[in-house]
Amino acid sequence: GGAMDTRRRACEAARTSLDRRKSMSNVAPSSPEKLAAGNWKMNGTSADLSILETIIRDLAPEAGAGALICPPATLLSAAAHLSKATPLRIGAQNCHEAATGAHTGDISAEMLRDAGATHVIVGHSERRTDHGETDDAVRAKAEAAQRAGLTAIVCVGETEDEREAGRQIEVVTSQLAGSLPDGATADRTIIAYEPVWAIGTGKAATPADIAEIHGAIRSALSTRFGAQGSAMSLLYGGSVKPANAAEIFAVENVDGALIGGAS
Ligand code: 13P
Repeated sequence: GGAMDTRRRACEAARTSLDRRKSMSNVAPSSPEKLAAGNWKMNGTSADLSILETIIRDLAPEAGAGALICPPATLLSAAAHLSKATPLRIGAQNCHEAATGAHTGDISAEMLRDAGATHVIVGHSERRTDHGETDDAVRAKAEAAQRAGLTAIVCVGETEDEREAGRQIEVVTSQLAGSLPDGATADRTIIAYEPVWAIGTGKAATPADIAEIHGAIRSALSTRFGAQGSAMSLLYGGSVKPANAAEIFAVENVDGALIGGAS
């Protein structure tokens, strides 16, 4: 249907512009990995899994950018099964910090890995808002991801009020400092900058806004983690769609996107 076409086109646009960028530059092994990631949020039932077959079919064998889909937890096993032995990777949207225990309704990072996930999003703004997740809680989840051998996609982003007050850099770097565990490594850590006011609003941040924040994030990461921080992938998220994907990926320190509605 229309929604599936839009999803496919957004993912294609993301990968095509990332591929083009990679082929233009001589990428050193320590460079951040390029990644187009889709976050389905609380959407999708088994009937929607066919979109994964389309995505897999359209993935170029030697694509310069990786592709990741984060379906709801109920679809992880089936999605991982469908994408087995393909370049498409499957991620979860949240995890509990503990490995096991009396936490009714929660899912541990170890369980997500067992279901076939390679990645897990932690600290998405919707979880920070809906579930009161603090930087400390997000850091514990990122640690759990690492313990389980998953790559954590750690989300940060300022609200509209914070941006209007000119506090965006301070807010984002403070979230980043509090949400990342010591010893975070580039192969197990991805940062997603998702300004709250751009999520699901159709109003993406401008390339200049993104360049400012991604530059500040890169600099904070390099200061704290050295070469590992320089090699972490930085994704932008918030109203990315086929029409704006190329200009966003052309921004310095943008290594890919975390795409909600259009994925
Ligand atoms: P939209 O692409 O729908 O704005 O959502 C972005 C997002 O929250 C991805 O995690």
